[in-house]
Amino acid sequence: MNNSDKLLIRNICCLGAGYVGGPTMAVIADKCPNLNVTVLDINQERINQWNNPDLEKLPVYEPGLKEVINRVRGKNLFFSTQIESIVSDSQMVFISVNTPTKTKGFGAGYASDLKWVEASARQVAKYSRDHTIVVEKSTLPVKTAQVIKEILENTGDDSQAESNTFSILSNPEFLAEGTAITDLNNPDRVLIGGDDIRSIEALKSIYKNWVPEEKIISTNLWSSELSKLTANAFLAQRITSINSISSICEVTGAEIKEVSYAVGSDKRIGSKFLSPGPGFGGSCFKKDILNLVYLSNYYGLYEVAEYWEQIIKINNWQKKRISRLIVQKLFGTITSKKIVVFGFAFKANTNDTRESPSISIVQDLLENGAEVIITDPKVQASQIKKDLDLEEFQRTSNTEFGFWRFSKDIYEAVKNADAILILTEWDEYKFVDWQQISRNMRAPSWVFDARSVSDLDSIRKAGLNVWALGNGSI
Ligand code: NAD
Ligand code: UGA
Repeated sequence: MNNSDKLLIRNICCLGAGYVGGPTMAVIADKCPNLNVTVLDINQERINQWNNPDLEKLPVYEPGLKEVINRVRGKNLFFSTQIESIVSDSQMVFISVNTPTKTKGFGAGYASDLKWVEASARQVAKYSRDHTIVVEKSTLPVKTAQVIKEILENTGDDSQAESNTFSILSNPEFLAEGTAITDLNNPDRVLIGGDDIRSIEALKSIYKNWVPEEKIISTNLWSSELSKLTANAFLAQRITSINSISSICEVTGAEIKEVSYAVGSDKRIGSKFLSPGPGFGGSCFKKDILNLVYLSNYYGLYEVAEYWEQIIKINNWQKKRISRLIVQKLFGTITSKKIVVFGFAFKANTNDTRESPSISIVQDLLENGAEVIITDPKVQASQIKKDLDLEEFQRTSNTEFGFWRFSKDIYEAVKNADAILILTEWDEYKFVDWQQISRNMRAPSWVFDARSVSDLDSIRKAGLNVWALGNGSI
């Protein structure tokens, strides 16, 4: 391809200023000083938060994010709700809006709700000018590019529509929360699906500013869309596999950490994503597997659908069995007992609580009448209230139902508590003064470590009973 064939990209924008749109565009702006990058959202409050001069108040907590924002915001990175003018000035538009599981209508409970993607495509169709490259960054069902293409080609401002052209690329994002900035700075691969060579080259040339070319994979659109769903399904499947084995460890005297290490030492298997836990959370694993299940059923591949659905079933079972075990260990009842939950985020180093195992486990504890004190270094009480759909201290009309409150200080939280339940692997919970904690709790007191992060000997030495997920030797 010679230079005259190259598409000139000066302004890019992204619809969706969420966990993906914000950090991804910030890193692109950081690595490509010649590009003007604008992150757009329909939610004014979210944009205000991204523009907040106080970098501690950004809407997304990610290690390293505030430093990147500090370097580029106001220089070549902007956050705005001015969708019309910015889209119209952009040669490349990323779509990074939410794609949750449908809650009603056909496919409810499985298929992705594409209404935000469709609205985004309509906005691009209406406001874009000349040739626009539309990049799917959201995780989407296979064949969504076709839907976007039809919308782009059949809607829009009639006076302009004739001269406007589009090409569509799939460029799924593989960052994980908590490590988003390092993942973006040093991705294992960048995947670009599409059929228009010039557009693929234009997107490639952005990534080539910091990603080695051999890590940039080009495929057709459908392979790219399917690879994203498959990658998440495989990761979730590994966690589920190790979690299922954790239950066998507990009844046989084996130790899951030892099993995980021994199994993961085989290079063919590898050691990553074999940490046992209370079940995977996060906004995507469940929704993407459900999407795969929907897709398989849609094409009549019922056995394939059943295979993947089993991952979700075991994941739910893992959460439930932890709640049941706590009730059982605390003499069969937790009514009016104080249980302190260490960690509400779905994993460490994020303030995100979407699909966090803590939500359903806390709900189980409340249903069984416990007083639950929740602590987390980054999650706010207001978010927990939304997730539980219950005010702090609120008692429901059911007098058997417990209540919850938030505490920032773990040493205050444990006063007179009967049990501590570790649900997120924050560093803060790995190095606690168990002697001090033990003195403040009500005996016989328990520590339930669903992340296997604590030092069991110091817990025991402090006079506390301990249960650790997958540890059959205690
Ligand atoms: P999010 O909910 O944090 O952000 C989505 C944003 O899009 C919201 O702020 C919403 O207001 C905005 N939005 C919705 N419709 C819009 C429109 N028409 N125009 C402009 N803005 C609009 O979601 P997220 O976590 O950033 O995920 C976005 C997509 O990326 C999803 O498809 C998800 O599956 C995928 N993904 C997420 C992650 C992750 O770690 N969160 C990682 C990889 C891929
Ligand atoms: C995951 C994938 O790792 C990303 O590649 C992908 O881009 C993203 O989903 C997405 O599409 O949204 P994320 O959900 O942010 O990223 O975080 P993970 O590190 O994958 O953790 C997901 C859940 O699995 C967490 O609850 C975590 O605690 C749990 N987990 C993870 C384990 O229980 N054990 C492990 O060994 C690893």
